[in-house]
Amino acid sequence: MSEPDRSHGRKSIRASLKPRALDGESPDLAGVWRADVITLFPDVFPGVLGASLTGKGLKDGKWQLHTHDLRPYGEGKHRNVDDTPAGGGAGMVMRADVLGRAISEVLRHRPPCPIIYMSPRGKPLTQTRTQVLADGPGPVILCGRFEGIDQRVIDHFKIEEVSIGDYVLSGGELAAQVMLDAAVRLIPGVLGNEISTENESFSNGLLEHPHYTRPPVWEDLKIPAVLMSGHHGKVAEWQKQQSEALTQERRPDLWEAFGD
Ligand code: ADE
Repeated sequence: MSEPDRSHGRKSIRASLKPRALDGESPDLAGVWRADVITLFPDVFPGVLGASLTGKGLKDGKWQLHTHDLRPYGEGKHRNVDDTPAGGGAGMVMRADVLGRAISEVLRHRPPCPIIYMSPRGKPLTQTRTQVLADGPGPVILCGRFEGIDQRVIDHFKIEEVSIGDYVLSGGELAAQVMLDAAVRLIPGVLGNEISTENESFSNGLLEHPHYTRPPVWEDLKIPAVLMSGHHGKVAEWQKQQSEALTQERRPDLWEAFGD
């Protein structure tokens, strides 16, 4: 294995550590909730996070996003980041030394914070985990590609593995954006006063009730009469009953946990 070109490596690393975010530079806002994302595809960020209220929150400094290109930390002339799996088998594994350099560099800029590796092998992401993430300083997120990453990195840095569902994506970048969106919208001031997270699905352990708006009749379909009655008590009772019925039907796992 050839030695990396150290001087070129350092220059590239420094360049890659420049925060990238919406409209070029993300302001370095001390104490503001911060996500650092290590990825081979920094250009796909902020992606969907740059739109709508999360995007406005990013611009307004309600949260910050710093992406770090993994490539400059790679080995040799070609900055290789992966290699064949020990013990044989298909695919490639991301190298411990390369990931270790990148993570150590990013951690120099962070107070203690969770380090999360997006992986279909991880614990499923829940609203509870998301709220804890939103309440903390913000994570360092590792986006994998190929078959996975060297286990020693996970063990050494005590990395938490998080999955966004029982299916396999091509890499962790989309999963990271999903997790970040779910967390960032819970940071005070990001959604604004007009949107409440209090009654939404999962916040009370149940799926949310159906919603309706104008027109009162559409394609011969009427808005349920109780919602037009102006009787707040009856509306609340109807919404609770709908929420419980939906949860029982669609998510027996949630319903069982709700009853405990
Ligand atoms: N990377 C690939 N698939 C994933 C999943 N389901 N969740 C999180 N990260 C992933």
